[in-house]
Amino acid sequence: MKGKMKQNWWKSTVVYQIYPRSFQDSNGDGIGDLPGIVSRLDYLKELGIGAVWLSPVCRSPQADNGYDISDYQDIDPLFGKLEDMDLLIKEAEKRGIQIILDLVLNHSSNRHPWFLEAKKSRENPYHDYYIWRDGEEGCPPNDMRGVFGGSAWEWVPEIRQYYFHQFTVEQPDLNWENPKVREEIYEMINWWIDRGIGGFRLDVLDQIAKEPDKKITRNGPLLHTYIKELSRRTFQRGELITVGEAWGATIENAPVYSNPDGSEVSMVFQFEHINLDQKPGGEKWDLASLDLVKLKEVLEKWQKGLYQKGWNSLFWDNHDLPRIVSRWGNDKEYRAESAKMLATVLHGMQGTPYIYQGEELGMTNIKLSMDQYQDVETLNMYKERMAQGYSRESIMESLYAKSRDNARTPMQWDDSQHAGFTEGTPWLPVNPNYTEINAASQTGDPDSVFSYYKTLVGLRKEYEILAEGEFELICREDPDIFAYVRTLGNQKLLVAANFHGTEVPFSIPLEFDKEEGKRKIRTLIRNYPDTEPGMLRPYETFMIFAEQGE
Ligand code: GLC
Ligand code: CA
Repeated sequence: MKGKMKQNWWKSTVVYQIYPRSFQDSNGDGIGDLPGIVSRLDYLKELGIGAVWLSPVCRSPQADNGYDISDYQDIDPLFGKLEDMDLLIKEAEKRGIQIILDLVLNHSSNRHPWFLEAKKSRENPYHDYYIWRDGEEGCPPNDMRGVFGGSAWEWVPEIRQYYFHQFTVEQPDLNWENPKVREEIYEMINWWIDRGIGGFRLDVLDQIAKEPDKKITRNGPLLHTYIKELSRRTFQRGELITVGEAWGATIENAPVYSNPDGSEVSMVFQFEHINLDQKPGGEKWDLASLDLVKLKEVLEKWQKGLYQKGWNSLFWDNHDLPRIVSRWGNDKEYRAESAKMLATVLHGMQGTPYIYQGEELGMTNIKLSMDQYQDVETLNMYKERMAQGYSRESIMESLYAKSRDNARTPMQWDDSQHAGFTEGTPWLPVNPNYTEINAASQTGDPDSVFSYYKTLVGLRKEYEILAEGEFELICREDPDIFAYVRTLGNQKLLVAANFHGTEVPFSIPLEFDKEEGKRKIRTLIRNYPDTEPGMLRPYETFMIFAEQGE
């Protein structure tokens, strides 16, 4: 292309998320670990991804599976040792893969030495590392609730004060107003950068500047001041990839977070599209079906809104969300077709795509019994809704659809016992469909979901239009079809997808249908062996590239 700008490396790469607990166990304790990940790096290299985001592996009592950190500069013994991390960084680097660490900076564990000191007395030098308010037992400062249920305030009788926690009681919020806290955090991050970490995912980044007296949790007034300082003192030392988790991100503030000048982070995870299948005004458990027209509208808004003003992250799945093929695809007769279709729609847009472990195999949701669920959010919701008089059936229906454990079942490597994940007893049951859905049966099969993802990852490296092209939605009001055109100079790319299990009429726009004059066209990927004129078959999808000769 003429006038090509220097691109950040992460704009044409794909990131793979690993949930370490569930990826690969190496020592038979039933819990995935760092040596396990090292042993699977060749699989990731084969897929072609450029970076791996690891959910937290730092030392933690595991009240929220590692999102409660008690030592930011050590590895939890469950996952291995610091040397295992050094080895992982080195071995990944050899395969062209950067390691992205998950930084949980909004809160620490209540067993972090800072908190143990902080709660000793009001005069303790660490007291002000957390957020305290005076009060009377049984009478919290206000009625704020934690994200996982219950009051956001916890009473400490010894010092007769409440501390603030947006998540569980075991996750006290850090006080970002205190410059000492910020300094400790920068020092810790720089220590990781010096060890070779290639980027960071920042847990609930939009919540660090909370102001509980005003009941503000997300997007606090000082948020961007803090992020700019954080970025300047740490991330801007190198070409790091940084992504902030921001449930409170809006199209108005996202360009601030992901300003192309690099003053904050590379991009944020926003959740507007992922919240569409819940009842308006309800919680995620209050299920509603997906309105495709609305989904298109929301994604279009983000594609256009951040074009040349910021950068999108593209994802369907993560460790907090259900499996996309079960959610918005069809995990029965059209499992492979719909998994490929959803992948195409996502990977055709502008932004950095994220693949959550097992998504590239078309792994599905699971139905567990109440004594098998492990996730703290799930367990709290069950208790709360039972107490509120919801029927057991409706609770279970919500959990089957939305429990975080859907995404956390062990990775399905092969059809041997426990899917090749462990030789012991897995910490969470393996999905019984592992005999049919597993990596071993897919890696060598050119028609598999895995091979399809591999092709998509390759296309992003090869076609600049995927990273840079402008986005334009077509068939806007069509309730079945998601289709759009990307444009870059004399190149165009058509992405078309049928979101449903029936045939629907669709005509390929002429410029993608016929080579004419100097126009060349090429189908880059499709999930049926051919195309059928005038229609899209169930969950059919393709990408067609057209180039006008000079
Ligand atoms: C984020 C994480 C989630 C965790 C929460 C508290 O939303 O993705 O898994 O429970 O933050 O740290
Ligand atoms: Ca293990």
